Amino acid sequence: MADATGNQEAKDYGFGIPVANPVYELKGANNYDWGMKDRLSRVFNPKSGKTVMLAFDHGYIMGPTSGLERIDLTILPLLEHADCLMCTRGVLRACIPPTFNKAISLRCSAGSTVLTELNDECIGVEIEDAIRLNASMMAAMGSIGGKFEALTVKNICKLVETGNRYGIPTLGVTAVGKELTRDARYLAMASRVLFENGAQVIKTYYCAEDFQKVTAAVPVPIVIAGGKKLPELDALKMAYQAIDQGAMGVDMGRNIFQAEDPIAMIKSVRGVVHDNMTPEDAFTMYNDLKGSQQGRE
Ligand code: 5RP
Repeated sequence: MADATGNQEAKDYGFGIPVANPVYELKGANNYDWGMKDRLSRVFNPKSGKTVMLAFDHGYIMGPTSGLERIDLTILPLLEHADCLMCTRGVLRACIPPTFNKAISLRCSAGSTVLTELNDECIGVEIEDAIRLNASMMAAMGSIGGKFEALTVKNICKLVETGNRYGIPTLGVTAVGKELTRDARYLAMASRVLFENGAQVIKTYYCAEDFQKVTAAVPVPIVIAGGKKLPELDALKMAYQAIDQGAMGVDMGRNIFQAEDPIAMIKSVRGVVHDNMTPEDAFTMYNDLKGSQQGRE
């Protein structure tokens, strides 16, 4: 208990030394409140400024996706190598032990599947449940130029409104859809619209031509989705080129959990994202780790 008398006198005021006032370095985030910065620091490693997010929320539109049939067998061994886990609340509660203590990017939009019309979504997770689950970020699809543009932008705005109230950032995901192209012009437009509506982080696709225009057009961090499974070297090249052109990380699913050796793959992706490894060096690392005991540690 604090005493009122007999204490040492306070004297170390550091006269002449300006009070430390460090800048929060994450792109676009300097003016956010403390809680939001703290959550973003769990997603983006403060040392490298980058993130390796492991996406395994595919089931919410695709059902039991290849590689995700048994989350306990295939995904749990990968968790320690990820900075942030992107998943639904169903999987989080049923399959992910809370002891992993990783940042969570919670899939909060819901409403349609690959069997019907993608992107006909609402916000299915209320802020109270996101808080209960200690989400570091809340994610919703934004289908710019698609049939459900207005609906999905409204969903993003709702997440931003409630997220800002409680200090939880929103991840705006540029939607997949048959009618939507994936060139730099479209991706910059879609990403910029989600940012303008308040999303603090944007997830979009990499495009081979002019991707730097996409990252330059958006004043907050962009992370790339991996997309369909590619040969491992190609996936590492994509991650490298995206980072080289201004992306601040990956939110990768199938190219990790469908790889021949998923643990070796996520470690190699980390090498590219956090340690500036070239794709060739990361691929050598992948092959060295593949199937070895080291790959599983
Ligand atoms: C679906 C998503 C997925 O999380 C996303 O596509 C990432 O997974 P992959 O790398 O397999 O594409 O947001 O909309």
